[in-house]
Amino acid sequence: MFEVTLADIRKIANEYSIDECPTAFYELQRYNYDEENKDSKEVRLIIKVVFEKHSAVVIRFKNERNVTKKHIEAQCRFAVQLSKGGIKTPYIYHIDGHYANDYHINGYDVIVTIEDFCDGEVKAVDEKIARMTGVLLAQMHNVSEKMNLHVYDKVMFNPLLRNELFDISVFSENKEILREIEPSLYDEIESITESYLRKIEVFKEETQYAVQGDISLCNLYITDDSEMGVFDYNNSGDNVLFYDVIMQAVFESRLMDYKGDYPEREQNILSAFLNGYDSVRPFTNLQKDIYPYLCAVISAYWLGDMSFDEGNLKSLIEKKQADAICRFMNNMRNRLIDLQEFPLFG
Ligand SMILES: Nc1ncnc2c1ncn2[C@@H]1O[C@H](COP(=O)(O)OP(=O)(O)O)[C@@H](O)[C@H]1O
Ligand SMILES: [Mg+2]
Repeated sequence: MFEVTLADIRKIANEYSIDECPTAFYELQRYNYDEENKDSKEVRLIIKVVFEKHSAVVIRFKNERNVTKKHIEAQCRFAVQLSKGGIKTPYIYHIDGHYANDYHINGYDVIVTIEDFCDGEVKAVDEKIARMTGVLLAQMHNVSEKMNLHVYDKVMFNPLLRNELFDISVFSENKEILREIEPSLYDEIESITESYLRKIEVFKEETQYAVQGDISLCNLYITDDSEMGVFDYNNSGDNVLFYDVIMQAVFESRLMDYKGDYPEREQNILSAFLNGYDSVRPFTNLQKDIYPYLCAVISAYWLGDMSFDEGNLKSLIEKKQADAICRFMNNMRNRLIDLQEFPLFG
C-alpha cells in the first residue's frame, strides 16, 4: 500500500517553497487500487497537512491510468486562470512554475500537487446551495469563454458521448431482443430518440471551453464571507458550455445528498440551479427550446435505470423478463414524450 511519512511531506513542502515543517497530516481520500490487484502501483491519495503557523494545505499523490503529468498540469493551469478571473478556488503551489511534479516515494512513482486547504465544504444541497452553484458555474463559464481556456480532455457530461448521466447503448445494442418483445414500441422510442438527438446536436459545433466538469457537493465550499468556491479539477476538460450547465444541473438535482426531502425537491433544485446560472449568463431562446429534448433523453435513458439500479434494463434483458421489459419500454416512451419546459421564474 502507498504510504507517506511526515519526512516525505516535509521534503515535498520545502520544494514547493513552504519552509515550515509540517506537524501532522490526515487522509482525506484514498482509492484502494491494490484491493483489486495487490501488485497495482496505481495511487490516489489526498491528504491534509497542518503546520504550526502556515495555513493547512492539501497534497494529492496520483498515479492513475490515462492520467499524465501534462494532463494534471493543464488542469492546474485552468484552476489558476479561473482564480485570476475572480473565481474562488484554492491557491495552487508550484516549483519554478510547475504545479504537477514527479516523486518516487515508498516504491511508487507519483505525481504530486499542493494547494491550500479550504474550510466550509458543502455536504448537502438545498435550493440556496443549488442557486449559488448555478451562479458559480455561470461565472466559471464566463471566465473560461472570455479567457479562451482549454484543458483539451474529455468530460463526464457531454451528452453526445458516453457520459455519467444517461446511456443509450443498452437499448440500441439489444435491439433484436427488445424488438422481438415490442416491435412497434421499440421503433417508436428509437425514432423519437433519433429526432431528439438531432435537435440536441445543434450545439455540437460550438467552440468548447474548459469546464471543471464535476461541480457537485464535496467539491464545493462556502467561505467565511458566504461566497462559494470550488476545488477538484480531476474531471476538468472541454465541453460545450450549454451541455455542461444542463447536465450538471440535472446531476445536482438528482444525485446529491440533500438537506430535506419533499415531493418538489428535484424540480426546485433544478430550477434554482438554472435560475442562478441565468442571472449571470442568460440562456438564449434556442437553448431554452432545446432544453426539454435534452432532459427527456436524460430521463428516458437514465444510467441507473439502464445498468445499475434495481430492475435495470440490462438485468431484465439478462433474465429475459418480457413483461417487465414491456413496462420498462412504456415508461421510457412516456418519459420521452413528457417534455418539460425550461424552468425559469417569472
Ligand atoms: N483544497 C481543499 N480544501 C479542502 N478540502 C479538500 C480540498 N481538496 C480536497 N479536499 C477534500 O478531499 C476530498 C477529495 O478530494 P477531491 O479532489 O475532491 O478528490 P476526488 O477526485 O477523489 O473527488 C474532497 O471531497 C474534500 O473533502
Ligand atoms: Mg471530488
